[in-house]
Amino acid sequence: MENTVAENEATALDLLLDKVYQDGGYDFRGYRCSTVTRRLQRRLHDTGARTYLDYMQFLDAHPEEYHRLAEDLTIKVSGFFRSPYTFQQVAGLVLPELVLYKRKQGEQKLRLWSTACARGEEPYSIAILLIEFLGHRLPDFDVLIHATDISHQALKEAQAGVYSSKDIEGLPITVLESYFAHRNESYVVRTDIRQMVSFSYFDLTSLIGQPFADLDCVFCCNILIYLQTQLQERVLEMLYNSLATPGYLILGEVETLAESLQERLECVDAKAKIYRRSKE
Ligand SMILES: C[S@@+](CC[C@H](N)C(=O)[O-])C[C@H]1O[C@@H](n2cnc3c(N)ncnc32)[C@H](O)[C@@H]1O
Repeated sequence: MENTVAENEATALDLLLDKVYQDGGYDFRGYRCSTVTRRLQRRLHDTGARTYLDYMQFLDAHPEEYHRLAEDLTIKVSGFFRSPYTFQQVAGLVLPELVLYKRKQGEQKLRLWSTACARGEEPYSIAILLIEFLGHRLPDFDVLIHATDISHQALKEAQAGVYSSKDIEGLPITVLESYFAHRNESYVVRTDIRQMVSFSYFDLTSLIGQPFADLDCVFCCNILIYLQTQLQERVLEMLYNSLATPGYLILGEVETLAESLQERLECVDAKAKIYRRSKE
């Protein structure tokens, strides 16, 4: 009996996620069930729906609910220099090698991608890291950080670059003074840093292929944990294809590299989750 109820619920959930994809354009079908069901409960509660079926009817009557659902299903917790050790190792291992390689090749372009950028904390941290690392050599390089996400709300806030005192908690005062302007109760990212980052919408799970190629560094942090293994593999394969050689892939501290890529990517720092695509 219990099994039947669970099976019915799983089928209803599948139907709902199919509908959200077909009619709403958001694909949460390969996300971990536990996260999706937990977060869905809130939408059911707020819309007065008792079952997934009720909620599907609500979606038909209120198509704007698709966007609210997508906002609720995406977890946007982030922070500046969120994994300090990783950023330290990017500065200590990745950037010196990349800069040396670029110099040898006579190349100026440095292209990076923050693949689930939330409210911009990650791409702005990367920009600050690059400024600090390159110092007086910054003008020698043509730097662009692509930053993408599926949350329109997060992208809007990221572009504005305005943060509360809670958002910037823990940032050293020297970083705050150098890279932020203090306005009223908020901290605004300096214009020249905002100009190093190009924000746009991109769904990592989409099948349209990779939006960027020949990237020097790809950050895919704290998003894979929400995806089922098969989808993680597909996303990682796409990211692998977007890397230059040499090119670096950086994952979140608790994330792991799919088995299918372990042969092709060299581990640079296991704790910092930094991997290198070397020459074929
Ligand atoms: C927990 S935040 C991680 C932010 C940042 N990378 C970090 O490590 O602090 C996860 C982000 O992934 C975004 N996201 C979820 N699904 C996505 C998808 N399919 N494509 C792109 N971004 C997605 C969410 O909107 C959210 O901003």
